[in-house]
Amino acid sequence: MERLVIANWKMNPKSLNLAIVLAGSVKRHLRDTHGVRVVICPPFPYLAAVGRQLKRSGLPLGAQDMSSEEEGAHTGQVAPAMLKALGCAFVILGHPELRRESGETDFMVNGKLRAALKAGLVPVVCVENVAQLMKALKGVSKSSYGKIKVAYEPSWAISTRKGAKPARPNEVRKMVQRLGAIAPSATFLYGGSVSAKNAGVFLKKGMVQGFLVGQASLKPREFAHLVKKTGFG
Ligand code: PGA
Repeated sequence: MERLVIANWKMNPKSLNLAIVLAGSVKRHLRDTHGVRVVICPPFPYLAAVGRQLKRSGLPLGAQDMSSEEEGAHTGQVAPAMLKALGCAFVILGHPELRRESGETDFMVNGKLRAALKAGLVPVVCVENVAQLMKALKGVSKSSYGKIKVAYEPSWAISTRKGAKPARPNEVRKMVQRLGAIAPSATFLYGGSVSAKNAGVFLKKGMVQGFLVGQASLKPREFAHLVKKTGFG
């Protein structure tokens, strides 16, 4: 069974230099990923340099968002083909922070998901409930479901939110069962305050195949520990 960990660096680190140092450190700590596929998703301006740093490490590169458009008059947007040209294999879509801060709608997430599949990027679509997944999959052929990674990511569980705490593994299991009934061949991840400490219990009781990780992915030693737990969980 596939195990997957997606590192979402969000708007960190602060400079290109720090991004390169962080990527180097992650690479060193993850010489052995214990069979886990680990994807590093830095902010757009650092993709090329982090991609160079990760070269030959076997750690794929991913972006944190993209446009649903292929080209044209879309100021500030980044097209799927541009991500591919930078070496991205994955793209996170519909992150709760984008939905909240940038007014990302289910309609937009659906357009981006279809564009990612068309471009040959692996979409990691974040959802908080069944309705969001159903809307994200509108018009997507069932035969493509196996290429999609679905992250159950309740916004209240994201570590940087005030009073955040991880979802309970039983809640995660119930939600993954409901999401799985819609897209049985997709891969299901959990995101929200995941750490090396709680990863094992989510794998055992939450029925997930991996994680979308924010804060803990910025601490290479802890992140490597989390990946190890995911490999053995
Ligand atoms: P967190 O973030 O692990 O810091 O809670 C997860 C995410 O927002 O992707």
